[in-house]
Amino acid sequence: WKDNIQLLETVASTQEEAKKLAEKGAPEGTAVRAEEQTGGRGRMGRKWHSPAGKGIWMSVVLRPDLPLSLTPQLTLLAGVAVCRAIREVTGVPAGIKWPNDLLAGGRKICGILLESSLREGGLHYAIAGIGISANLTEEDYPDYLQGVGTSLLIEGGGIPVDRTRLTEAVLTELEYLYTLYIEQGFKPVKDFWEAMSVTLGRQISFSTPQGRCEGTAMGLDENGGLLLQDASGKIISILSGEIEMI
Ligand code: BTN
Repeated sequence: WKDNIQLLETVASTQEEAKKLAEKGAPEGTAVRAEEQTGGRGRMGRKWHSPAGKGIWMSVVLRPDLPLSLTPQLTLLAGVAVCRAIREVTGVPAGIKWPNDLLAGGRKICGILLESSLREGGLHYAIAGIGISANLTEEDYPDYLQGVGTSLLIEGGGIPVDRTRLTEAVLTELEYLYTLYIEQGFKPVKDFWEAMSVTLGRQISFSTPQGRCEGTAMGLDENGGLLLQDASGKIISILSGEIEMI
């Protein structure tokens, strides 16, 4: 996959660029990276700060033959792949906050947005959007992200990251894990995820349409949902959304 990367200068969002390629039949593993995004998108309708020349803003086409209910597994898989690549190339001890935010020093270093296109009730293709804050300095962050976002440069003691090398490592890891997943199912991904998680064992707060719930993060269920044990001992599973570690 690392030999199939298109590098663009400025785009609104690499998600849209990858979708165009996927619609034209681009093979699995096709990746589009941009130096800058003017309309970078995050989860839950948020913006993604994507300044020029500072990060890895990239989207990858995936075409798994999966029922829709299992797409959360792909989200976790992408988080594991990027976490492994970051640790390997930079040595920064990144960890995964459920489902797939990567944190270092308690702040966010990478976000992943998985978007699915459907066909006849099943998955047509998925686009894994990966945003790695590689070489941003504290000054590169707008006010609303101060203290929330960090970068590999900041966490790595000021050493700039070779973005080409890290991009290739991400795609190599993604291809490795994805192949493992297609051949062996979710178990190996789940094991990697649990080993890299900063969420497990922690007290979690989560908002539902019925109100807030709290519990201890116990592990992942078979679909990739997060298992929480509440104060009464009851186990509940969360499939999507945003958690807070308290
Ligand atoms: C999040 O944590 O909210 C997800 C952020 C995902 C950002 C990446 S950057 C490349 C791709 N293009 C986008 O517009 N978003 C994703």
